[in-house]
Amino acid sequence: MILLPLFSLLSQRLTIEVAALPLQQLPVVPTYAYSSVDFYSPLLGGGSMLDDAGDGFGEPLNVIISGLSSPQVLTEDGIINFAKAIGFSEECLGIHLGAPQSANLGDGNGWVNQTIELRQDYGNSEIGTCLETLIGGNHFRVFKQNGTVAPSGAVFLAVSQEEDLEESHTIIPDGYNIGRDKLTSLAAGTTHFDGVTYSTIARNITGLLAAGSVGVNHGIGTDGITTLLTVTIIDDCSSS
Ligand SMILES: *[C@@H]1O[C@H](CO)[C@@H](O)[C@H](O)[C@H]1NC(C)=O
Ligand SMILES: *[C@@H]1O[C@H](CO)[C@@H](O)[C@H](O)[C@H]1NC(C)=O
Ligand SMILES: *[C@@H]1O[C@H](CO)[C@@H](O)[C@H](O)[C@H]1NC(C)=O
Repeated sequence: MILLPLFSLLSQRLTIEVAALPLQQLPVVPTYAYSSVDFYSPLLGGGSMLDDAGDGFGEPLNVIISGLSSPQVLTEDGIINFAKAIGFSEECLGIHLGAPQSANLGDGNGWVNQTIELRQDYGNSEIGTCLETLIGGNHFRVFKQNGTVAPSGAVFLAVSQEEDLEESHTIIPDGYNIGRDKLTSLAAGTTHFDGVTYSTIARNITGLLAAGSVGVNHGIGTDGITTLLTVTIIDDCSSS
């Protein structure tokens, strides 16, 4: 009974003090959430650094786009635009070959299907991925770490270099390491697409993925390195 008037007295005092602050000292309220971490290790939340390819094996999540990247990069449209800036695009005429894979990023969402799959576009973001479908090349699957247990906003990629259609799109020997390193060298530094300019820093991380081929799809071993990309938009004159 005594607490209530005291509380209202306090809140009244607070109100008065906030109102008395000069305008420029009022706290700035962000309009959307910023991440404060690069990513959370999926292993801490019962997840895995291998996705589920549906055949009892998985592909390594060998590239992570940091949650500290510009927030616009971490949306689905943002990932597609960034992919186009580094020579990838959506699948040929929207036709998807093969079943989607799923990943458990330890964020409380459990096993979730990939959101999109992007392919090397051979210099043409409209129809170039049709060529990748025929002759093979680099491609990646996209998974977002946004569950309430680990809401980093980071985007995990399963990157691999594929054989051509005749070889039913299997992965080339050493195709996980090669795919990761090719994507990284295309991404690092300054890139742009559709009026958006990106500055990307790459850093290698060990200790997330086990080196070797245990549980890895097609029995293709990896060196156990995951590359972390921090992608910052340094100029945006896009229409949107
Ligand atoms: C994941 O994809 C498979 C294959 O297309 C589909 O059967 C399944 O319903 C999807 N799962 C979810 C949760 O969307
Ligand atoms: C997490 O990301 C997926 C894929 O972009 C989206 O479908 C889902 O709505 C997101 N969930 C939350 C809680 O933002
Ligand atoms: C990461 O490691 C791979 C394999 O050793 C190497 O080829 C690549 O250049 C490294 N990338 C960075 C950003 O250090």
